[in-house]
Amino acid sequence: MKIIMFLTKDEERILEGESGSILARAMKLIVTIGDLKGAEKLVTINRSQVAGVSYKTSGDPTLELMESLANEGVKVKTLATQNPAGMDLERWKEMKVSPQFAIKQLRICNAYKNLGIKPICTCTPYLSGNRPKPDEIVGFSESSAVAYVNSVIGARTNRHGGLDALSCALVGKVPLMGLLLNENRRGSVYVNIEFEPNEESDYAAIGYYTGKNLKTGEIPLYTGLKNASNDSLKLLGAAAAAAGSVGLFHVLNVTPEAKNNQLVKKWKIEERLNMDKEALKNVYDELSITETPDLVCLGCPHCSLKEVRDIAEKLNGRKIKKGVNFWVYTSPTVYEEGLKLGYVDTIRSAGGDVFRHTCMVVSPLEDMGFEKLISNSAKALLLTKLCDSIEI
Ligand code: F3S
Repeated sequence: MKIIMFLTKDEERILEGESGSILARAMKLIVTIGDLKGAEKLVTINRSQVAGVSYKTSGDPTLELMESLANEGVKVKTLATQNPAGMDLERWKEMKVSPQFAIKQLRICNAYKNLGIKPICTCTPYLSGNRPKPDEIVGFSESSAVAYVNSVIGARTNRHGGLDALSCALVGKVPLMGLLLNENRRGSVYVNIEFEPNEESDYAAIGYYTGKNLKTGEIPLYTGLKNASNDSLKLLGAAAAAAGSVGLFHVLNVTPEAKNNQLVKKWKIEERLNMDKEALKNVYDELSITETPDLVCLGCPHCSLKEVRDIAEKLNGRKIKKGVNFWVYTSPTVYEEGLKLGYVDTIRSAGGDVFRHTCMVVSPLEDMGFEKLISNSAKALLLTKLCDSIEI
C-alpha cells in the first residue's frame, strides 16, 4: 500500500498488523480515506458517534460483521456512543415490532456494546454525556449530530459513515482534513431568511430549503435568525444535512464562529440565497399530507428535555384523537429526566407515548402498520417518504 500522508512509527506499526488484523484493516481504511482527501496526517480523538445500528437500515451484513469484530475482543479507544436502533430496546413489543426483528436488533446493539460503544442509541449524544467541547476534534457519524456539533457547539468533525466512524473509534484517530481545518469552515453563501420563524417546524423547513438549493460543499451563513434556540438549530441542521449533505452552517451572531465579526468579514461571502414566506409555504406544501395521519411523531433529532417538557405542557389536560398514534422519540437520558419530572406521564395520560433508542426513520414503520405520518421534522418526512409528494 503506497501511503502519501505522514504516519508516526506507532501508526505505521498498527497498519502493518502489530496490533492485530482488525486494527490494521481499520487503520488502512482511515489512511485510504485521508490520502484520497489530501490529509497530511492523523490526529487523536477522544469521542465518537457510531451510526449503522438499526437492523432496518443495516441488516444481516452489519450484524455478522459486528459480531465477528466483537468476538475478536477488540475495543474502541474513545468515548463512543451508538446511534438509534430500530426499536425501543425494552418496549419494542408495545411498538408492535416483530420478535424476529427485535432479536436481531438486540444482537447488533450487544455486539456494538461488546466493542465498547455505549448502547444509549441516540442521535443527540451531545445531550446525553457525549458532548464535545468547542474546537475539540471528534469522529462522528450521523449527519444531524455532525451538523449540530460543528455548527452549534463549534467542535470539529467530518461527516463519517458508520464503518469509518467505527474504524476511527477503534484506532482513536481521524485524518486531519475537510471540516477539521479552518480554511474549510468559512461560510460561503449568505442565506437571508426574510420572515420571522414562529414554530420549530419553520426551522426544519429552512434547513430543507437550504439543503435543496445549495451546491455540495457550500456552507451557509444565515442572517435573520437571531432568536434561534439550540433546539431549533437542531431541526434546521438535521433537515439541511438530509436534503443537501450540509455538515456545517453558521448563523450570524448566534453560532460560535459567526459571533466573531472579524472572522465573518474575512470570509468575503459574495453569493446569496433568499428565502421568503412564499418559499416557506412551498416547503410545507411539499412535505404535508392531505389525508388523516395514522402516526404523529416528534423527536427527529431526538427531543431535548425542554422539547419533551413543551410537548407535555401542550398536552396537559387534553386527549389525543382516538385512532391517532402520537409518539415522541428521545434518548434514554432525557427520557429518565422526563419521567422524574412527570412529563412522560403527562404525555401518556393524554394518549401519547414516549420511546427511547429509536425513531420514525430507522424503525420498521411500514411493518408496524403505519402508512401516513406527520412530523415537525423535515428530515423525518424526507427519509420516511410516508408523505405525499417528496421528490428526492
Ligand atoms: Fe435522529 Fe432518526 Fe432523525 S436518527 S436525526 S431521529 S432520522
